[in-house]
Amino acid sequence: MPDLGAVTNGRLLFGGDYNPEQWPEETWHEDVRLMKDAGVNTVTLGVFSWAKLEPRPGERDFGWLDRLMDLMHENGIGVVLATPTSSPPPWMGHLHPDTLPVDQDGRTEWWGGRQHFSHSSAVYRRYAAAITEDLAARYGGHPALTLWHINNEYCTYDWGPEAAARFRDWLRDRYGTLDGLNEAWGTAFWSQGYGDWAEVHTPRHAHYLKNPAQVLDFKRFTSDMLLECYLAERDIVRRHTPHLPVTTNFMPLWVGQDAWRWVEEEDVVSVDLYPDPRDPLGAQSGALVQDMTRSQARGPWMLMEQAAGPVNWRGVNHPKPRGLNRLWSLQAVARGADAVCYFQWRQSRQGAEKFHSGMVSHAGERGRTYQEVKRLGAELARISGEVTGRHTVGDIAVLHDWHSWWAGSHEGRLSTQVDYAQVLTAWHRALWEAQLATDFAHPEHDLTAYKLVVVPQLYSLGDAAIENLLAYVRGGGTLVSGFLTGVADEDDRVRAGGMDSRLRELFGIRTLHEWWPLDAGESVECDGFRGTLWSEEIEKDEEATTEAAFKGGELDGLPAVLRKGRTRYLATLPDSGDLRALLAGIAAEAGVRPVLNGLPAGVEAVRRGELLFVLNHSRESVRVEVPGTHHDLLTGATVTDELTLDRYGVVVLRP
Ligand code: GLA
Repeated sequence: MPDLGAVTNGRLLFGGDYNPEQWPEETWHEDVRLMKDAGVNTVTLGVFSWAKLEPRPGERDFGWLDRLMDLMHENGIGVVLATPTSSPPPWMGHLHPDTLPVDQDGRTEWWGGRQHFSHSSAVYRRYAAAITEDLAARYGGHPALTLWHINNEYCTYDWGPEAAARFRDWLRDRYGTLDGLNEAWGTAFWSQGYGDWAEVHTPRHAHYLKNPAQVLDFKRFTSDMLLECYLAERDIVRRHTPHLPVTTNFMPLWVGQDAWRWVEEEDVVSVDLYPDPRDPLGAQSGALVQDMTRSQARGPWMLMEQAAGPVNWRGVNHPKPRGLNRLWSLQAVARGADAVCYFQWRQSRQGAEKFHSGMVSHAGERGRTYQEVKRLGAELARISGEVTGRHTVGDIAVLHDWHSWWAGSHEGRLSTQVDYAQVLTAWHRALWEAQLATDFAHPEHDLTAYKLVVVPQLYSLGDAAIENLLAYVRGGGTLVSGFLTGVADEDDRVRAGGMDSRLRELFGIRTLHEWWPLDAGESVECDGFRGTLWSEEIEKDEEATTEAAFKGGELDGLPAVLRKGRTRYLATLPDSGDLRALLAGIAAEAGVRPVLNGLPAGVEAVRRGELLFVLNHSRESVRVEVPGTHHDLLTGATVTDELTLDRYGVVVLRP
């Protein structure tokens, strides 16, 4: 299968979404001049062009896109061509209201925004396939075309009648019979037994708590339906252009798509990433998504969208201070990105996102945003040859699974303070601050290459995943698990004893008596640290040792950190610095070293192949020790043993 290497050809891609249909044609020529000056070598066309391409049902207007494709080619700019299927034209909803999604309260989501399509609508799918077919037939042979971009940020839910019919089919495939469904959903509870498939619905608005297994299956179904839409379009473009790779852009750590499943169907993995410039942990949240995307890609990946300045969808939207766009772009490159792209090339003057930045802001060519973009383009071109195709490798695997996230988020859980994404982020942050290079992995992946595996929280685990963890530890691996792990099976049925018996045996938990969740802002004292969010009344077995105990209160003396063999179980979430110290200690024991020792706060070191990226996320200038003699690819300077990094400064060192 073709991969990202077929698109990059040894260059880092630099560019972004280009929406020229919003501009008169004179502006296109101005755009091309500015793009070339900035080193832009790729643009994504057509993401929201459906109404322009198909102004009336079945009609086609390709003339403008023909001219653009030619213009890009003449100027040496590659085109990532999107299927426009995320925003259907108004005529579709008007003529076929059944193509519009319905929310759980039965309200229709009308056109006038975007992503107003029902993933289950046969009519929508037919129109989407037809426009995809015609685009692929027309542009498949165009020399500007480098990559297919299917739809955009798949993210619609649908509780409507056509979705309900599809849901029934999906459930029939999964369970075979109504007996199977009733058993898996535990419908004996609250008189929910289904006697006819026609009674089964999407989990619509209900009087009180919904059946969690039904909600879980609805989330699985939604991810699968969106995937079906993607696959239908992917297969069409592949038929026309088997030599060209295909992608669809993920939202960062988005709850709705089982990305581990999706990436099996992509040639290139791409993601959109928008950390808040004001967030003191913006660099870490970026690093998390970059680590995850790289792990999904198992190699170089594409930063499909980021913002050159502010976004316009937060309550308060801050610009990027001078240097931050460069810093975060190079951070992505350090973590394996072979493409640094933006939403969007030119900031719109109309429409819902007119206050969202572009590479060319309203201030135009002279504006700071474009000037910084231009400098970055030149720098990326300088390091391109040394960087592309090289691998960034994590030493530690952080386990993550969407199904477990979905199952663990049910309404009737013991604490709504426990948020899966926040717990995952807290663990990644601890490793990130300890300069430990991390990958993400699915609990059923082969983990044998990792000396250390951590499980922030996997509430539900199937037998295959549990056996995988046991085999990993038997094979000599070190495993650290957070609380609320292994509680339920794949149907969200609580395991006997409140936690899977094999895992209890592995971690040294004889009896799990009670969970003691903590209130917001509450913490619990433990030996050497403070715990947050959660505590547990655990009775350990003889082989386990209490490395840290709860102090005071009901749980006084009971294990907060339990050790057995090469495993640890954490019955609480230590404060951030404490979790960092704990994991750094365990990593050292397991033979995992930080990328670089002794870095000042806010400075991050990342290895990509033999290159060492050192990134200063702080606003202070810092001295950094980098033992040995290196060549800085960005400046051409020789660096020996130490260097100074200005605020937001970066070096890319080759030995
Ligand atoms: C997403 C979308 C873009 C744009 C940006 C704004 O990433 O894909 O079309 O709306 O958000 O941040």
